[in-house]
Amino acid sequence: QDDKFKKVISHAKEYGYVFQSSEIYDGLSAVYDYAQNGAELKKNIRDYWWKAMVQMNENIVGIDAAIFMHPTTWKASGHVDAFNDPLIDNKDSKKRYRADVLIEDYCAKIEAKIDKEVKKAEKRFGDSFNKEEFVSTNGRVLGYQEKINTTLSRMAKSLENEDLADVKALIEELEIADPLTGSKNWTDVKQFNLMFGTKLGASADTAMDLYLRPETAQGIFVNFLNVQKTSRQKIPFGIAQTGKAFRNEIVARQFIFRMREFEQMEMQFFIKPGTQGEWYEYWKETRMKWHLSLGMGAENYRFHDHEKLAHYADAAADIEFKFPFGFKELEGIHSRTDFDLKAHEEYSGKKLQYFDHEDNASYTPYVLETSIGLDRMFLAVFSNALQEEDLGDGKSRTVLKLPSVLAPTKAAILPLVKKDGLPEIAKEIVESLKWDFNVIYDEKDAVGRRYRRQDANGTPFCITVDHDTKEDNTVTIRHRDSMEQQRVKIEDLRMIIKKEVDV
Ligand code: GAP
Repeated sequence: QDDKFKKVISHAKEYGYVFQSSEIYDGLSAVYDYAQNGAELKKNIRDYWWKAMVQMNENIVGIDAAIFMHPTTWKASGHVDAFNDPLIDNKDSKKRYRADVLIEDYCAKIEAKIDKEVKKAEKRFGDSFNKEEFVSTNGRVLGYQEKINTTLSRMAKSLENEDLADVKALIEELEIADPLTGSKNWTDVKQFNLMFGTKLGASADTAMDLYLRPETAQGIFVNFLNVQKTSRQKIPFGIAQTGKAFRNEIVARQFIFRMREFEQMEMQFFIKPGTQGEWYEYWKETRMKWHLSLGMGAENYRFHDHEKLAHYADAAADIEFKFPFGFKELEGIHSRTDFDLKAHEEYSGKKLQYFDHEDNASYTPYVLETSIGLDRMFLAVFSNALQEEDLGDGKSRTVLKLPSVLAPTKAAILPLVKKDGLPEIAKEIVESLKWDFNVIYDEKDAVGRRYRRQDANGTPFCITVDHDTKEDNTVTIRHRDSMEQQRVKIEDLRMIIKKEVDV
């Protein structure tokens, strides 16, 4: 699994998808740049989401709010007081860690011991081995499992009760060491706010302290009435937006899974109080369908219902995806009640109510939120697509089986040779197709090598112009996934590609 993840990261770099930010200065941790192919893939994912949420729903409109917001926004939203991670420093190494992650990593190490025992037994018993039975009867394995369970539940309880002294005590009792130096000399655990601060204005005494937004949602809440009135939407209706969010994440690993600067795609759905249960179910199902529509395998998704709820929610679930490092949160669906609108009413002194003509009464709407990280979706799509395929005879190929609708380049047009007028015909095809699709021209290397290059790039079609093309206006179209080749008329290319890449 570790290997697969390393391949994903190096492939993303080698094929111009994702680079470390400021690489020539040795990079900036948990900050990444999207390169020529990555920017296209990211844009296509964003468009795919926008189309499904905004274009296809008459009662959802899209906005683009500013990253800077009035500082009181974050008082009202609860982020100033409650958007914290528990941090601990090692006194010897002066390194800082997330206390909960140190404990989780400790549990992951025990989990690895369980795996090792299972593998050993599997080898010993061969075909007759039954994993469930082994795990439920082997005393040592049960002991390990018990240790994980008690550790994680004590940690969850301590964090919930803000009992940071107990989190530290747990780290000491488990004898957890600094992962880099082995030192066990820890400071107290302290809460650390994840928001990035900055200043607005030039002069020292008038400058205003601001935060970079840690979520896009608040830009929707504060605009709720303006949008409702100008769009003349009736409840239930939604407001969607995509945009950058910033969090000063301390655990900066797992590539673009957890970043300090990232992009969210969020939708707040405003509903009548009391209907949140049905809308919660509706949006869970609808969002899962959206994921499944990309054909990345139903077995790679699961719901995780939250028991511990954020300060604003009365129900919450994650859609988890099977990343190369296991099932992890990809999207959240949160029933946020009237927490946010009520808080903004209180802090701003302005009413944020909806007048319901049918009931002839005003109320503060409840909100159902769907929130997905664009970069995390990118990682899901990219890691799922990357495959090493055995072609038999000791041959293999690296292929990026991106859903065609998301692929950065839809077709590569290749003249078989660089002479006899073939490049000219290929370029003419590029000229005619580029109005509808991202296509590229490639004449370098033997055609087999060019096919492989496009496979690794994720391009769904290669179109080859050869000497017969001059006679009958036909070309060979090769499909990335099946590697099948067909002879088709140039005039039919547009329709063939469109059929595959249109939503
Ligand atoms: N408005 C609700 C909200 O922001 P969240 O669970 O904190 O909820 C929503 O974030 C989604 O944003 C997550 O499911 C994840 O996909 C993405 N996300 C959160 N933090 C991230 C980070 N540091 N890097 C990349 N994506 C992140």
